[in-house]
Amino acid sequence: MGLVGAGFVGPHHVDAVRRLGFVDIVAVAGSSAKSARAKADALHVEHAYGSYQELLDDPRIEVIHNATPNYLHYEVNAAAIAKGKHVVSDKPLAMTAAEAKSLLDQARKAGIVHAVTFNYRGNPIVQHARIAIARGDIGKPRFVHGYYLQDWLIKDTDYSWRLEPDKGGASSALGDIGSHWCDLAQHVSGLRITHVLGDITTSLPKRKRPKAKGSREAFAAAGAEETETVDITVEDLASVLIRFEGGAKGAFSVGQVCAGHKNDVQLEVCGATASMKWRQEEQNELWIGHRDHANQILAKDPSLLDAGARGYAHLPGGHQEAWADAFCNLMRDIYGFIAEGKPADRPKPPAFATFEDGYRANCIVETILKSAQAGSVWTEVKY
Ligand SMILES: NC(=O)c1ccc[n+]([C@@H]2O[C@H](COP(=O)([O-])OP(=O)(O)OC[C@H]3O[C@@H](n4cnc5c(N)ncnc54)[C@H](O)[C@@H]3O)[C@@H](O)[C@H]2O)c1
Repeated sequence: MGLVGAGFVGPHHVDAVRRLGFVDIVAVAGSSAKSARAKADALHVEHAYGSYQELLDDPRIEVIHNATPNYLHYEVNAAAIAKGKHVVSDKPLAMTAAEAKSLLDQARKAGIVHAVTFNYRGNPIVQHARIAIARGDIGKPRFVHGYYLQDWLIKDTDYSWRLEPDKGGASSALGDIGSHWCDLAQHVSGLRITHVLGDITTSLPKRKRPKAKGSREAFAAAGAEETETVDITVEDLASVLIRFEGGAKGAFSVGQVCAGHKNDVQLEVCGATASMKWRQEEQNELWIGHRDHANQILAKDPSLLDAGARGYAHLPGGHQEAWADAFCNLMRDIYGFIAEGKPADRPKPPAFATFEDGYRANCIVETILKSAQAGSVWTEVKY
């Protein structure tokens, strides 16, 4: 494995892959030789490269992980595919749906294994809910709703490249965390999003950007550095009404300016006979709602989980598993698939999101922006 981009999330890719026990972490590439060496040393990785091109030229590396800022996703992914390497790209897959489609086509043509880190799929309770809903345990899904809220951009001194359209894309909060919610909602409900109606807001139209560095790592608080005031055009808050295939309705909100919400993803599916709700900040529990008898809380306990979800839990009940464990589960599905060495287009394990899933998320986010810009009108998502 070789990692490109070792900022906030890159080291978690290394950690998750290392835990699998059968993959060598060969090298890290950064934006300069010096920063790459420092990151490689911190992560105890032997080789460091000052450019991703050098890393791609290393014949020992079979799988490229792309954890660079969004504007480099297309470039790095396309170059890795051209070298015949397997690619694990962080989300959003690309800056636009057209770029994402092109990457999907390139990956299919090259026959490489392609994955996108929609890592909430890797949670055992999420898999249990997905299987239970597919089996009909809650009846036909009618309403799929929830939110993804954070507070790390609530102050005007909070700053990230995600707020600059040329680095993060035309959308900020929706592309960054709305893409996760949309993938999760479709994955768990088993339904595709067909239409959206979006309302987007820029709560802080001016922010103080760190002058020397230009950005700050995700979730990092402002320091004493000199700043300059800049205009912000992308959304930090959004609400979306959704129509799913088959008639189910839905709604979700995203915001990175919501105090007290750290990484608060919630998804609820209300079916004809019962409801199921999962919340990332209490991720070891599944709430099951009933009309005619008491509601239930299913605790994450391998002996209580559906057989298909059990493999995603690694500790007995009461031993809490978390974000990093779900991330590792995703890597286990991806690397297990790669290790089998069969054609890349065969069926994948459930937590494994592909470039096709990444492309779909890009299409949905782009359509929400289009809907909002047209005055919040129902708009069909064209895949
Ligand atoms: N799956 C998740 O839950 C999750 C969580 C956080 C971030 N992300 C995604 O991961 C990506 C990175 O986000 P982050 O928060 O880690 O950002 P970050 O800014 O903390 O890290 C990006 C890193 O890429 C490096 N970089 C910049 N240009 C480079 C180049 N040309 N070559 C090599 N490295 C380069 C930067 O120096 C930095 O270390 C984003 O696309 C983001 O959406 C996903």
